[in-house]
Amino acid sequence: MNDHRSGARATAAGLSAESLAKIDREIAKYPPDQKRSAVMSALTIVQDEHGWLSTATMDAVAHYLAMAPVAVYEVASFYTMYNLAPGGRYKLAICTNLPCALSGSEAAAVYLKRKLGVGFNETTADGLFTLKEGECFGACGDAPVMLVNNKRMCSFMSNERLDELVDELRAAAPGTTTA
Ligand code: FES
Repeated sequence: MNDHRSGARATAAGLSAESLAKIDREIAKYPPDQKRSAVMSALTIVQDEHGWLSTATMDAVAHYLAMAPVAVYEVASFYTMYNLAPGGRYKLAICTNLPCALSGSEAAAVYLKRKLGVGFNETTADGLFTLKEGECFGACGDAPVMLVNNKRMCSFMSNERLDELVDELRAAAPGTTTA
């Protein structure tokens, strides 16, 4: 099957032409018979477009990369940066691995849970925040460490800094008015 026909099927399953173009750029980084090596990039691109990874979109990625769907599911379910269900506008992932736990992340998580009124894997009623436990972000010396939407690293998250971050994100959300 040629790439054009593969692309047509993937688009029909919900991958936009823009995402496919980005995925093609990732595929081009690897030998032609190794395009499955682009799976993590492809999942990130698709998630950036849709906010999460549905089975249909993962199937489309699998088809496009000539992979078994289960191999794509395995990647998507292994890494915490992939969202397998819709969530809030902001995913707040706080690292609770041991080095961070020994340096205040558990207390930060408790503070954030109380502040937002949700537990891990829950979304606030206003749909703004989903709280997640993260695995080591490779910044153990900066604990407590958080990632916002998998992209923005926040270090040394004291209660005051958590307050500032939540306020900033709330203010930046569309439709938010500051009185
Ligand atoms: S243990 Fe938290 S960033 Fe490494």
